Order: sequence, then C-alpha cells, then structure tokens
Amino acid sequence: MDTPLPPATPEARAALRWPEEGLARVPFRTYNDPAIASAEDERVFRGDTWNLVGLDIEIPEPGDYRTTWIGETPVIMVRGEDGAIRVLVNRCAHRGAMLCLSREGRASNFACMYHNWVYSLDGKLQSIAFKRGVRGQGGMPDSFDMTRHGLRELRVDRIRNLVFATFSPTLEPAAQWFGPRMVWSLERFFNRPIELIGGYTQVLPNNWKLYAENVRDSYHASLLHTFFATFGINRLSMDGAVEVSERGGSHLSWAKMETDDAEGTDYASGGLRSMRDLAIEDRRILRSWREFPDGITHMIQTLFPNVFLQQIQNTLAVRMLVPRSIDRSDLVWWVFAYTDDTPEQRRARLLQSNLVGPAGLVSLEDGFIGNAVQRTTRGDQGHGAVVEMGGHGVGPERQSRVSEGAVRGFWQQWRGMMGC
Ligand code: FES
Ligand SMILES: [Fe+2]
Repeated sequence: MDTPLPPATPEARAALRWPEEGLARVPFRTYNDPAIASAEDERVFRGDTWNLVGLDIEIPEPGDYRTTWIGETPVIMVRGEDGAIRVLVNRCAHRGAMLCLSREGRASNFACMYHNWVYSLDGKLQSIAFKRGVRGQGGMPDSFDMTRHGLRELRVDRIRNLVFATFSPTLEPAAQWFGPRMVWSLERFFNRPIELIGGYTQVLPNNWKLYAENVRDSYHASLLHTFFATFGINRLSMDGAVEVSERGGSHLSWAKMETDDAEGTDYASGGLRSMRDLAIEDRRILRSWREFPDGITHMIQTLFPNVFLQQIQNTLAVRMLVPRSIDRSDLVWWVFAYTDDTPEQRRARLLQSNLVGPAGLVSLEDGFIGNAVQRTTRGDQGHGAVVEMGGHGVGPERQSRVSEGAVRGFWQQWRGMMGC
C-alpha cells in the first residue's frame, strides 16, 4: 500500500476525523465540506493518480484536441504534429486566461484571446503580441525567456484506447498502477478496433464521490433499477462476482444472464418493488447476442478515480466523471461499438442503447439518486452512511454481489490518499 499522507490543512484535518467503525461508515461531510474538496483536488486529482482525459480515437489527426478537467484544473488533450498525444494545462502562461474554450476541435496552434500569446501544439510559447513594443517603446524586457513560459505538460499514458494523465512525476505506469486484473478487463473491452456511435454529457446534481460509490455498489443495481430485475437483465441471483483492486479503489462487477435462478430469493417471493407492475410492449430491446466468449453479459468496471466501463448486454460505454463543484459533476459518456460489427449488430446496439444514459430505461435513476443523498446530508454532517453489506472488509466477493465491498474499497484508497 501507498503511505498515507498527512492531511493538507488544519481545516481538512478537523473535517476528516473518521468514525471508529472505519470503512463501514462514511461521514456525510465528505460530500459537502469545502476544506475536504480542496484537499481532495490536491491529494487525489493532482496527486498520485492516473486520470482519464479522453479516448485516442477522438483525436486521430495532428491538431485534433478535446478539453476537459482534472479536478479543478482545465486540460487539453491534443495530438501534435509528430503524432504524439499530449495533455497540456489549459491556462495561458501570461495571466492565466483559459486558452482553449471549445470542447473539441482541430487547431494549428492555441492563441490566447486576452493578449494573443500563441502556443504550438506541443505547448511551446511561439509568439507574444507586441513583444518588441510599438515604435521602439514598451514591450517585453530582453531578459524574458520564451522557452520558460510554455504550457504545463502532464505525463501521459495509454491503455488500449484510454488516455490517462497525471501531475505526478514519479507515479508508476498506468497498467502497473491499476494492476493486472483491471488491465485484463480493459483488454477484454478493447479487444479489437472500436468506433464511437454516440455520446453525451450528463449533469449530476451531486458530489462526484456519490456517483463513484453508486457504480461500485452492486447491491443497488437490481433494487433501484426496476427494469433490470423485472426483465432479468441483472439480478443478484445470477452467477457473478465483485472483484476489488489491490489498492481498493478500482473494481469489476460481472454477471451472467443465462444463469439466473431466482428460486428461494427475495425476487421470487415478489416482495421487491422491482418485480411488480412493469410490462414491455416491444421486446426487441431485450434481444442480445453473446458478446464475449466468457459468457459475461453484464460487466461494470471502475478505475480510481474517474473512469467507468460498461457492458450491459451489447451496450458498451466509457464514462468519465468530472467534478465541477462540490455538489455538481459532469458525467461524460462515450458509447462505442466494434468496427467489424455487422449492420444488424450495429442496429441492435443502437436500439439497446436506450437502456442506459440519463434517459435510459435501466439507469436514469442513477442521475437522480446522488442528489437524493446530497440534499439530506448538508445539514447534519455529524452523521454518516452505513456501509456494512457483505461485512466490513474490502472485496473480493467471489461468491456474491450482495455486497458493498467495492464501496469500502473506494474509501480505503481515498482515505489513504487524503491521510485520514
Ligand atoms: S492571459 Fe493569455 S495572453 Fe494574456
Ligand atoms: Fe445504478
């Protein structure tokens, strides 16, 4: 394990006093406290983490770029003239204006709107407006060294199609940092060339950690999402498992649809909201084909801190979580397919994509539930969440997904980084 850091500030130290129950409790103030959020930006997002910034296929040509944020820092992912992908801090070296305002595009350089300082695609400062002044008056002093005022460049690493960046000069390569089991799953998702078939950004009215918990929470999936259980897409009675990475913060949760045996469970007794009052007229959306030889029909993966991968039937997606303020996050979705799909498979993937996303049949609830927690926790921050399903430890749960082990794993890694 990494050595825990001391808390960043006295305010953060006071706010981060953790309950005696350890990982089985999560203080509500972790979702609301500004001192925690600012320590988190420094320790997690600008600390020893590989943060997803985009997919390589979004920027195939030199000059192609996409902008995003790592914590509170705006960044540009750009392909240079040399074909290399770089991640640059999106902040002018002159007086700090945001340099690139578009979400994506193609550029031959980046010119700041404020005083027209211009940077090349690799972040070097190319020119300064009125550098020599006007008619010999004014201008920059001779001592000003252009080579020392480029854009800040982050370290970049890639695993398959995913592009990661880190502020850390020393963090081990991304594949090593996430660990072999997490990389196995990425190789499974990206086993052949992909293309994008859709995308959107979902605004989540909650702290980023509430969504990070939600995706690691296999307990809720068939309870909150009535569609899942009712139509047999995902039930806890199917063969499945939760696996947690060595550091705790990343996880895999998988299930095999054909193995469902609800006999003798809460599903069969009909006591669950999920199993009543729902019918579907057009069942084509439920038709799927075996996507992978391992028979897994449902795979959800997280990578600490901001990545989620999804296989639900034949819908495939990458989601990237971008904290925007203490109670708002953006969830960026890339829905993808394989380039060798048949036309029928492509049509079926698009149809099934109605299952997921902010207006989807099985996961619209995740866009709401974070706020249902956020709203109640603001005024009573001395209390905390109870996270004991499946015990007190951090996975793996080879036998069962009736567990919050991966949620505890998230907090284990977060606390290690935050020093609490
Ligand atoms: S702040 Fe960018 S040129 Fe002045
Ligand atoms: Fe969910």
